[in-house]
Amino acid sequence: MSQPVLDARDLGKSFASGAERIAVFSGVSVSLAAGQSLALMGRSGSGKSTLLNLFCGLERPDNGVITLLGERFDCRAVEGFREQEKRWARLRRRQVGVMFQEANLMPALSLLDNVRLRARLAEQPLEQCQAWLDRLGIGELARRYPDQVSGGQRQRAALAMVFAMNPDLILADEPTGSLDRRTAEEVSAELFRLQAQTGVALVLATHDPELAERCRMTLDLAHGAGSGRAS
Ligand SMILES: Nc1ncnc2c1ncn2[C@@H]1O[C@H](COP(=O)(O)OP(=O)(O)O)[C@@H](O)[C@H]1O
Ligand SMILES: [Mg+2]
Repeated sequence: MSQPVLDARDLGKSFASGAERIAVFSGVSVSLAAGQSLALMGRSGSGKSTLLNLFCGLERPDNGVITLLGERFDCRAVEGFREQEKRWARLRRRQVGVMFQEANLMPALSLLDNVRLRARLAEQPLEQCQAWLDRLGIGELARRYPDQVSGGQRQRAALAMVFAMNPDLILADEPTGSLDRRTAEEVSAELFRLQAQTGVALVLATHDPELAERCRMTLDLAHGAGSGRAS
């Protein structure tokens, strides 16, 4: 089998709460190959966002090792903190597309310029940016600003931004959580359609069982402070 896109071993994370530390999860192991999808399930506060943050280096685990696209991150390694930060930042800029519940668009840029900015940072060709908006059904809104389109259209633009990076991994944190049911279904259908077409690996945090079912694997953090292995 080819090398996994993301391999996490025995991740644990806790946060300080006054004098003590509260464990969010422990013993989490995940392995994800190109084209595969993993749903992170669990109620609010179970650690889905925290785990996604660990997967892209926005937070550090207390223990465990993450290998992302062949790069190994070990919190106990002697490598300097700044060196690790640089490697994480480079991966987020070029190879890991992150999206959130609310589209993180720049308000002063048109939808097209938002996509172009993301593509430029990822060192991808800018000619494809309009085509990504077209593929997501919002090509004619390219010159509008984020506050001139609907929430669903903003999330479609956020998808265009992520795919215009030509990423190896997409981390999506409740990407349809702020949308009404029908719009959420349309946007998630686009996400899964493009994921299948491009073969990118996907980790999707959601508390919606129907959405999770569309992923090939599920990791349930339901009981908080729990442990898990993707199945
Ligand atoms: N920076 C932080 N400092 C302290 N506690 C945090 C921090 N981030 C998250 N937590 C706590 O960790 C737990 C998991 O949070 P989170 O990952 O946001 O859950 P979810 O995304 O599943 O709703 C919650 O109890 C939350 O309060
Ligand atoms: Mg969350």
